[in-house]
Parts: sequence; structure tokens; C-alpha cells
Amino acid sequence: MNPFEKIARSHQTLPHVDLAQGRSIASSRSTSSRLMELIDANARGTVHGGVIMRMVDEAASIVAFKHSQNPNVVTAKVETFKFLAPAQIRNVVTIQCEMHYVGRTSMEVGVEVLAEDVITSQIRHIASSNVVYVALDENGNPTPVPPLVPASQEEKAIIERTRLRHLRRQKIDEEVTQAEESQP
Ligand SMILES: CC(C)(COP(=O)(O)OP(=O)(O)OC[C@H]1O[C@@H](n2cnc3c(N)ncnc32)[C@H](O)[C@@H]1OP(=O)(O)O)[C@@H](O)C(=O)NCCC(=O)NCCS
Repeated sequence: MNPFEKIARSHQTLPHVDLAQGRSIASSRSTSSRLMELIDANARGTVHGGVIMRMVDEAASIVAFKHSQNPNVVTAKVETFKFLAPAQIRNVVTIQCEMHYVGRTSMEVGVEVLAEDVITSQIRHIASSNVVYVALDENGNPTPVPPLVPASQEEKAIIERTRLRHLRRQKIDEEVTQAEESQP
């Protein structure tokens, strides 16, 4: 069996997930790092934004896989992505991600990106992002994920802020759709 068939088959029978059992932010937190090399450079000699975006999606999806305990997770939306400063070649770029909000089938992961100068050990905060993932069942339809349980008042506040932003985003999306539909 080739590796692609093996992966496809493993996604046809998903493990049973107890949806009554909430999961903490700590249980799915993920950090990954990589040294930036010449192949990562753009024409200006700094790190290409697309390289950082790919690293963010890869690292944040790990959080969604871990929280949902489901390998069938897709990226639904990059809710925000702010580049604050460029990363340089020979910086170690670290992606820190944690779950900030869980709906019925969707999950939003908050991401902070740091760049460390390996010679001086200076660490800079170079980007922030929020990425939404949706868990799918064996047939490719959205499927419920366990709830997110805060472990402190601080975590509760993060989840509430993200929930309110979701509501605002949904309202704006609805208004835009209505405006588009009402145009001749
Ligand atoms: C993401 C996707 C599964 C949503 O399918 P859908 O039929 O719109 O699903 P639903 O309307 O039932 O919504 C399911 C959930 O996704 C959320 N969602 C759907 N589209 C969204 C978007 N653009 N942004 C944020 N959330 C979104 C809904 O709010 C809902 O969340 P909830 O269950 O927590 O309330 C579907 O659009 C898709 O497969 N897109 C392509 C994904 C992909 O290929 N990604 C790139 C490679 S991984």
C-alpha cells in the first residue's frame, strides 16, 4: 500500500471522541521552531512572508488536531494576520499557538511568532495571527469537537474576547452578504 492510500484509509475510521469531556487550553498548546535559511529569503533578503504564513498554518493546525483528536481538520479562515517586523536569515523563528475559542465544529487558534537572533539571543515579536479550523467526519462534513474549558480567569477572558469577535465577524459577514444580494 502506498503512503497516500495508507493516510486515506486511516482517515476513514476516526477514533471515538468523548464530546462531554471538555479539554483545556494547555492540553493542545503547541510550539515549533526552525532556523531561517537562504531558501526562505525574499528579494529583499529578509524572510518571505509566505514562509511565515505556512509555518503558522502548520503549527496552529497541530493545536486543532490535538484538541479535536481528529486528523480530518481543515483550515477554514485566516481571521487575522499581522506582520509586525521582518525576520532575518539565520533567525530562529518560533511559532507559539494555543486554542482560544471552540464553537460546535470550528476552533480558533491564537498564534504569536517570535524571531531570535542566534548570535545575540535577542528575541523579537514579529507577527500575530488567529486561524480558524473545522473538524470533518469520515464523509467530509463538519463534525462536533469537545468544548474548551478555561483553567483560570485569564483563560476565561481570552475565550470570551474571541467569542465576542466571532459574533462581530458573523454580523459583518451577514451584512456584507445582504448588501451584495441587494445590488442589482
Ligand atoms: C470549512 C468548511 C468545511 C466549512 O463548510 P460549511 O459547509 O460552510 O460548514 P458549516 O456552514 O456547517 O460551518 C461549519 C463551521 O465552520 C465555520 N465556518 C465555516 N466557514 C467559515 C469561515 N469562512 N470562517 C470562519 N468559520 C467558518 C462555521 O461558523 C461553523 O462553525 P461552528 O460549527 O463552530 O458553529 C468548507 O468551507 C471547506 O471544506 N472549505 C475548504 C477547506 C480547505 O480546503 N482548506 C484548505 C486546506 S486545509
